Amino acid sequence: MRTRLVVGNWKMNNTVTESVAAVETFVQHVDAKSSVDVVICPPYLAIPRLRDLLRNTHIKVGAQDVFWAESGAFTGKVSAKMLDEFCVSHVIVGHSETRGRFGKLETPENTLGYFAESGATINLKISALLYRAMSPILCVGETASEREAGQTEAVIRTQLEEALTGLDAAELYGTVLAYEPVWAIGTGNTCDSAEAQRVCKFIRGVVGELFDEHVASELRILYGGSVKSSNSRELFSQPDIDGGLVGGASLDPTEFSLIVMSA
Ligand code: 13P
Repeated sequence: MRTRLVVGNWKMNNTVTESVAAVETFVQHVDAKSSVDVVICPPYLAIPRLRDLLRNTHIKVGAQDVFWAESGAFTGKVSAKMLDEFCVSHVIVGHSETRGRFGKLETPENTLGYFAESGATINLKISALLYRAMSPILCVGETASEREAGQTEAVIRTQLEEALTGLDAAELYGTVLAYEPVWAIGTGNTCDSAEAQRVCKFIRGVVGELFDEHVASELRILYGGSVKSSNSRELFSQPDIDGGLVGGASLDPTEFSLIVMSA
């Protein structure tokens, strides 16, 4: 039996002050006895305050990215060891935005190389997180042009193979996968629930092939991409969708609590 999980990815939104206010409101709205696992991934700076605020609740604090080395000459980076000190439970890796793949491009095209996360770096990040007993939330998904070219399954299979290479089946038990079609992120174009289910089932099947059926059946697979309270119930009721990775709608504490309750 897979426990439902709803993750809020705040991306580069909310100062520390704004983060505290948002979480205080969210905690008032969300059912403390809910059986749904909830993780909020704020910007790094807000992690210590939110950890303190959420200490006696069922809501966990996550991070949006990590660097794979424990320490060293890596200007601007944050390691799993540093996150561990603040009891970070989950860390997003391989998000399309850190891969430099945007559904709605608001930065100049010639800056995309700045993001440039690859299958190899995602694999290193996952290993660094597992070493610290933190749960990676691995994002996979195709762009609009890849979908139109009929490459959805091939793209996702390659992303899974690259990210998960060298891992043992046992290491996958704490890992979470998220299907985030790039064209649905921040665009308002949610993937139709039947299609999201089809792709999530495909992802579970690939994990079964790469590892084993038991791991695949225990793995939590989230859907992300323009999730709102108006579509979350239908998405989360699909048999292979175990919850959501929510961007924009997680910034509104009332809306986010409705999404959590729908799970
Ligand atoms: P939106 O919910 O804003 O589409 O973002 C989804 C996402 O990228 C979550 O990681």
